[in-house]
Amino acid sequence: MNRLENKVALITGGAGGIGQATAELFLAEGAKVVIVDMNKEALEKVIDQLDHPNLSYCVADVSKTEDTQNYVKRTLDVHGKIDVFFNNAGIEGISRPISEYPETVFDKVIAVNLKGVWLGCQYVIPKMSEGGSVMITSSVAGLKGFSGLGAYVASKHGVIGIMRVAALEFADKKIRVNTIHPGPVNTDMMRRIEKDISPENPSEALESFESSVLFGRYAEPREIADTALFLASDESKYCTGCTYVVDGGMLI
Ligand code: NAI
Repeated sequence: MNRLENKVALITGGAGGIGQATAELFLAEGAKVVIVDMNKEALEKVIDQLDHPNLSYCVADVSKTEDTQNYVKRTLDVHGKIDVFFNNAGIEGISRPISEYPETVFDKVIAVNLKGVWLGCQYVIPKMSEGGSVMITSSVAGLKGFSGLGAYVASKHGVIGIMRVAALEFADKKIRVNTIHPGPVNTDMMRRIEKDISPENPSEALESFESSVLFGRYAEPREIADTALFLASDESKYCTGCTYVVDGGMLI
């Protein structure tokens, strides 16, 4: 199928688990894809692994204005347009009660997860083609509180506000803006969270997370990419300002 034929897609956090799976799927559906990430080595690994002529990369820290302007400029220089923007880069912070949460970690989580998404909306969306689609990766933690994850929960709730305002402000250009809310996904991020919660025995944390999901397992990154594909494609052309939960029934 060529559900993204002639479309140019930008994916932040493109060297991570969900970003890479989405890049692979978008390429298979005919898109030209630019992956953006701060980890150059990981980006080069994805380029090697996917080995596709329509895939390129840009090193950028999404929490920095200049880096954001730079990846937008480079994408427009190479491809001349942006149709799809997956505003996906994020970090988890650490698991600590609010009373003990280090301010520096709070600031970092907000800088990447909230300000990074904001800057993406500020500098990418105005340059997007009419009829484009923006997906922001929130989380089940954007819809529910999780003890210990205060900074992450705050950031992931916050991006829903950005999504709603961007959906209102860009509707005249027929640009759709939506959030995706995964439950636990089988990526490096969950490995780090498991280790942080149960340093001695991370598999204990894994089992506890799995048992909190109705389907009893983590999502595979491809299962999040499938929702991103629906939102990126014209099949979702009447969908904007909405929250798409992909959580195996976790929030039921
Ligand atoms: P990951 O850790 O595999 O990938 C995240 C990527 O973002 C990494 O390649 C990292 O280098 C990049 N990144 C981090 N800070 C950056 C910055 N300042 N500038 C540019 N790139 C930066 O994690 P995963 O799972 O692929 O996460 C993607 C998104 O999905 C994140 O927003 C995360 O919060 C969200 N999410 C993940 C879930 C999970 O269970 N893995 C569940 C719900 C949401």
